[in-house]
Amino acid sequence: AGGGRLLIVSNRVLLPGATQAGGLAQAVLQLLQHRGGSWLGWSGGISSDTAVHTRRAGAIEYRTWSLTRQEHEEYYAQYSNRTLWPLLHGRTDLMAFERSALHGYLQVNERFADNVARAADPDDLIWIHDYHLLPLASLLRARGLRNRIGFFLHTPLPAPRTLVTLPQHRTMLGLLAACDLIGLQTANDSRAMQNYLIGELGAVAAGDTLRLPGGEVTRVRTFPIGIDPAAMAEMARSAEDAPETRQLRNSLGRSRLIIGVDRLDYSKGLPQRLRAFRHLLGNNPELAGRATYLQVTPESRREVGEYRQLSREVQRLVGDINGHHAAPAWTPVRYVNRGYPHQILAGFHRLAKVCLVTPLRDGMNLVAKEFIACQDPLDPGVLVLSEFAGAAAELGDSALIVNPYDIEGCSRAIARALDMPLEERRQRWQRAMHVLEQGNVRHWCDQFLAALRAAAPAHGGSE
Ligand code: G6P
Repeated sequence: AGGGRLLIVSNRVLLPGATQAGGLAQAVLQLLQHRGGSWLGWSGGISSDTAVHTRRAGAIEYRTWSLTRQEHEEYYAQYSNRTLWPLLHGRTDLMAFERSALHGYLQVNERFADNVARAADPDDLIWIHDYHLLPLASLLRARGLRNRIGFFLHTPLPAPRTLVTLPQHRTMLGLLAACDLIGLQTANDSRAMQNYLIGELGAVAAGDTLRLPGGEVTRVRTFPIGIDPAAMAEMARSAEDAPETRQLRNSLGRSRLIIGVDRLDYSKGLPQRLRAFRHLLGNNPELAGRATYLQVTPESRREVGEYRQLSREVQRLVGDINGHHAAPAWTPVRYVNRGYPHQILAGFHRLAKVCLVTPLRDGMNLVAKEFIACQDPLDPGVLVLSEFAGAAAELGDSALIVNPYDIEGCSRAIARALDMPLEERRQRWQRAMHVLEQGNVRHWCDQFLAALRAAAPAHGGSE
């Protein structure tokens, strides 16, 4: 394959100057800064003017466009985030399905396909990200593109028995076979994908290669996403004296800091986590004034009802805990509904003795990795990590692993984290940091692109 460019396509594009979004945007930004290339997708704007806007910043060319109000509603709010997101996180109880939303989802994917097809040269590598764009590769093939096309799913993938609850699961997931390579976060997710393609679509496997009855050939492989731990560590070191860090440190007094950083999303297990903290305070009165839990939680997807409901539930719990346990000079839970740039969060992580990452289900969870990278190697904090986060597959022997549904177990793990002797903290931290360095974001990107280039051209592409 010649020296083709890299085209990244994702629903959300992080334009220069925007504050952080989810893990996907962060990782893509770092990979493009490192490697150069184009980033195509939604600008985040809503407008009836849907023209493509091109701009360049450093090594990155941005090609973005707005969604119309109706597209935003049907494609983004409804089908992507009220149908696919709950399904992929095993929450079929929250899954809603409407045909009009499916129609909007397919139409927006057609528009993405037009814009990508217009931007792509024959030897460009095309890398599509996440569940908003499941049909995109097949729509590009329908427009005659024979490029190498890869797809990476940032979310978990549930077992086939759950996937089949999606009314159009055969089309939606079958269309992924138009990709040369399908990447997933964990071995579990890859197994689920293979089992689905074999069991439901009649694919035949040879190693990680799958041949579908229609003759299409694709590959399924695991690529756990990472961060840039050295850059993050440096950021945390220099954030130690930042005004925001100093203010937080001064405000804590003799209280140790426990931190959580999550989008306000039901997959993150926030109510369970708050109950665990309430249980901890109830059973350990000596912690009064000696532990403070800061939960940084930017609002997310407010256009979806389930998210607004979660917002109220979390507010009630925070109010309840603070009402019962606070003292005039101590607030047990500080709940902050806004996002912060990484430079500031890095300082907060460095101050924290404990980080709570307890999702009910999560593709990877980069907060877990960022917290580790931000620690002072001489006096590191402790990560309490859900066994249902993708990160647990890598950090299982360095974090305190919990089942987020087990409120008592989580409460005990937080207590243990607060009391953990320095030597044990150091050993755990060193093991974790080693894992992060081995699997950093550059490695993730290089591995994926090497596998994509190595994929035999099953879709008529050039050698
Ligand atoms: C998750 C998804 C991403 C998404 C992010 C933020 O990490 O995997 O695709 O961008 O959440 O959600 P939002 O809906 O605001 O883009």
